Amino acid sequence: MNFELTQEQKQIQALAREFAEKELLPQVRERDAASEFPMEQFRKLGETGIYGLPYPTELGGMGGSYLSYILAVEEISKVDAAFGISFSVDTSLYGGSIMNSSAPDEIKKKYLAPITYGKKIGSFGLTEHTAGSDAAGQRTVAVQDGDSYIINGSKCFNTNGPLADYTVVYALTDPALGTKGMAAFVVEKGTPGFTVGVIENKMGIRTAPVSDMHLENVRVPAENMIAKPGEGFKLAMKTLDGGRIGVAAQGLGLAKGAFEIARKYMMEREQFGKPISKQQYLAFKMAELKTDIETAELMLYKAAICKEEGKPYTVPAAMAKMTCTNIAMKVTTEAVQMLGGNGYMKDYHVERMMRDAKITQIYEGTNEIQKLVISGALFR
Ligand code: CAA
Repeated sequence: MNFELTQEQKQIQALAREFAEKELLPQVRERDAASEFPMEQFRKLGETGIYGLPYPTELGGMGGSYLSYILAVEEISKVDAAFGISFSVDTSLYGGSIMNSSAPDEIKKKYLAPITYGKKIGSFGLTEHTAGSDAAGQRTVAVQDGDSYIINGSKCFNTNGPLADYTVVYALTDPALGTKGMAAFVVEKGTPGFTVGVIENKMGIRTAPVSDMHLENVRVPAENMIAKPGEGFKLAMKTLDGGRIGVAAQGLGLAKGAFEIARKYMMEREQFGKPISKQQYLAFKMAELKTDIETAELMLYKAAICKEEGKPYTVPAAMAKMTCTNIAMKVTTEAVQMLGGNGYMKDYHVERMMRDAKITQIYEGTNEIQKLVISGALFR
């Protein structure tokens, strides 16, 4: 067991940290207030190839370590967790769907390489109004017509949906077979009949656009079918295992970001004639939160390393997602409390972090679903 990061991992961590502090922090509150996606910054970070970091170079990625990518999501999320989820959906859910699929290499490269450098943006179309936690309850259908498929249906809660150049759409080619009749397709923006629906007005992650996506007689070439009929559900599940590590990194970033704001504040803020860090009941609370953060970090890095080393990671990913996001909620809420009245005000960032943290317990499988995954493996 080795707890040291490699040179590459340290470099990516430093790059993401510097980018977050220089490029994201200055306007993060204004963007949150305006629900404005930082497209310029997203493209700028993309020039480093970071969105395809963990994928093989021959398929259009950067051939980096998976943990490096996770460290980058964590660093970005310390400052701007909404950017963190757009990044994670792009790399883990969209890129992961492509990479985990049985598509030929030229299709993988075609749809991964432009994402790697931020020239294009990807999204993941699984959830529907009737299929949330029960991802098998899909209604979107794809019918073969010569050398193409015609897709009809609707997706919802699609992160990056309004921005996405490419969306992986999961659809039933044989509804009677349920999950065994599910396939997956890459649908390009601008394909006739493929439209962005309602853009959600959210509590947190306000700058990451989330929308419905409608498909009305959308014709997609058969070569864009990245999971054959029967393979789609497993592709979605496997991809979500990776996505959950990304959300765990987002949660850990939020927890660390809020903790650091509270720690510095406590050393400066004086009440009853001394800094509030000298109040033992507050210092002890911080000791507990720091221990929680270290626990979450160990679980997250373990899950990332399992994935990187090709070991089973479904359960470690579910555990890391549940732990990191619960700790994110706890630490951000306590940080607001530590800062008192100031914590409730937008100037100090922690109220935004608390709002952003809530969704991490919900998306990419609620934490109740994570318990289903973990307990299912216990009693199989
Ligand atoms: N990897 C590969 N295959 C898997 C798998 C995994 N992790 N999990 C299940 N499977 C396979 C099973 O082996 C099974 O295969 P067989 O039929 O050959 O035996 C098949 O998939 C069906 O498995 P289950 O019977 O366990 O499926 P289920 O219908 O009971 O569902 C579930 C299981 C865990 C509850 C699943 O539905 C689930 O994860 N739900 C949550 C969905 C989710 O996370 N949605 C988030 C969408 S993205 C998002 O949040 C928005 C965003 O943009 C950020």
